[in-house]
Amino acid sequence: MALVRLDKFLSNAGIGSRSQVRDYIKFRRVWVDGVPCIKADTKIDKEKNVVTFDKRVVSYDEFVYIILNKPKGVISATEDEKEKTVIDLLDEKYKKMKLFPVGRLDKDTVGLLILSNDGRFAHNTLSPKKHIEKSYYAHINGKITEEHIKEFEKGVVISGGYKCLPAKLSIEYSAENFSKVNITIKEGKYHQIKRMFEAFGRKVVYLKRTSFDDIILDETLEEGEYRLANEEEMKVIKKFIEN
Ligand code: URA
Repeated sequence: MALVRLDKFLSNAGIGSRSQVRDYIKFRRVWVDGVPCIKADTKIDKEKNVVTFDKRVVSYDEFVYIILNKPKGVISATEDEKEKTVIDLLDEKYKKMKLFPVGRLDKDTVGLLILSNDGRFAHNTLSPKKHIEKSYYAHINGKITEEHIKEFEKGVVISGGYKCLPAKLSIEYSAENFSKVNITIKEGKYHQIKRMFEAFGRKVVYLKRTSFDDIILDETLEEGEYRLANEEEMKVIKKFIEN
């Protein structure tokens, strides 16, 4: 790993903002290899140096990947004057890490959302050329039939005239006024799923993202809960970082 300044190392590790950690350094709360280090620009080698803050070892990961089960009512943004954002759901430690949502879910959509501070991961996954599969579970205010499945396979023309790529639709339950479906799309146009059903005069009344490529929503996370990506999820994430 490239060498990194001590103040950057500490703030990336979630110890505090750059100015807070500079104070901690000044007040000798930060030690490097067993001795107090009072210079914020000291170069740290993660592989070789042991950094402690208040005598506790600081573990450093340059990039963080968080798996969030997004609740309803929060927006996929980093800050907003009026609305609560997905970043507001995080502990102070993560709020300091300049995380952002990788992709967007509507305010009323729930389910899997990845938060990260890795711009390369975001760039590689959000690129429209990538055609990453994203699956959703939805409730629809009307009947969904085999005909819809065929139309989704052909590519639905949504408002504005855009023809979507073929999408996989499957029906879990369908009655005259209400249906439950699963749908997998390979792109991420604004309100795409809602607009796909609107093209057939139907309204999406509940929408949950259940997967992103091979990362499946962890249903043990309550809505609003999150955790760091586990080993299996990191394998999927690394695939996107490396390509
Ligand atoms: N499609 C939508 O309409 N909304 C979402 O939040 C995601 C996909």
